[in-house]
Amino acid sequence: MLERIRSERVAHLVQSDIRAMTQRCVEVNGVNMGQGICDTPPPGEVIQGVTLALEKGANRYTRYDGVKRLRHALSERLARDNTLNVDPETEVVVTVGSTGAFAATVTALCNPGDRILLFEPYYGYHLNTARVAGLEVDMVPLNPADFTLDEQALEAKAKGARAIVVNTPGNPSGRVFTRDELTAIAQICQRHDLLCITDEIYEYFLYDDHAHISMATLPGMKDRTVTISGYSKTFSITGWRIGFVAAPRELAEPIGLVNDMYYVCAPSPLQYAVADTIQALDPDFYQSLAREYQAKRDRFCQLLDQVGLTPRVPEGAYYVLADISRLGCETSHQAAMTLLEEAGVATVPGSAFFSGPDGEHWTRFCFGRTDKTLEAAERQLLEWAERSNNAR
Ligand SMILES: Cc1ncc(COP(=O)(O)O)c(C=O)c1O
Repeated sequence: MLERIRSERVAHLVQSDIRAMTQRCVEVNGVNMGQGICDTPPPGEVIQGVTLALEKGANRYTRYDGVKRLRHALSERLARDNTLNVDPETEVVVTVGSTGAFAATVTALCNPGDRILLFEPYYGYHLNTARVAGLEVDMVPLNPADFTLDEQALEAKAKGARAIVVNTPGNPSGRVFTRDELTAIAQICQRHDLLCITDEIYEYFLYDDHAHISMATLPGMKDRTVTISGYSKTFSITGWRIGFVAAPRELAEPIGLVNDMYYVCAPSPLQYAVADTIQALDPDFYQSLAREYQAKRDRFCQLLDQVGLTPRVPEGAYYVLADISRLGCETSHQAAMTLLEEAGVATVPGSAFFSGPDGEHWTRFCFGRTDKTLEAAERQLLEWAERSNNAR
């Protein structure tokens, strides 16, 4: 009886494969390379910033769109790093993580029944949040060989849609969209009058010579783009829930109203700590972050090659899709479970990122881990590869 008491809006929600895998990983005492939780330490400045903020009594609700210091710090850094100029008083909303930013955006700017486009492979929260908001989600597959933009596939879906979600650097694809790709998306947005919601949470995780370009800086896009990002990943503070939206005043205002209604404000002392840290860190910090993660990527992708799980080497973010065909399983779920049981390493099955069967030969590793965790995963995967080679 009680299980029937569930709203239709959330009827489709089930425990994600990511959570289930994490639970099983704990049971078998495995190494968790699945969930996107970084266990690398946050910068010292942000930790000291919280103590300072608490000592100064930052215990009250803040303005619904965030404390002045953080809105101004964000506006300055968007101008410096993204060449995006926004008014800190009217065009920035501090949110409860970028997840809260996305939820507030779709609730504030889309109507139930509207169609929203997601590139596939997609990030599961985008899909589920849009569905809970009553939207119809339509997938636009990226080219399967290299996850580049398939312009024709997008054009075919664009007519009559309300919005499109762009995620660059992408989870789980690892793609950093080029200027040409973004320009093509921008032109389609303008031709079909689409709102563009761009999730740029991995904007500082860039490898080789890939550069991050914010969609809102492309000609004609500022007025129809909501830029979403946050500090979960950049400062390794996933549990703090500090994100933000940058958008034209007319869009930021309703997003702020929804943010106020659902969350009131982001945690006050944490807002001050993040603001001061953004101001204190120089560009070196972000460059060495990218270098550090590139070293992790290189090392981990080399290992995947070595153990026969061929990686799609990412250009940005900190996930890698690896080909699990060698396990000979029928589904990516079975393959990921086999890898967990046999090698003691948890991953996320490719099916979590695709609506159809295209994800069944992939599993996703998250390499946003300390070197110690990466070494443990490496050891276990090498031992597993040796055992399974000997067994053949
Ligand atoms: C693409 C993408 N957006 C948003 C998030 C969540 O960010 P936040 O912690 O700011 O809510 C993640 C986390 O894995 C992500 O991969």
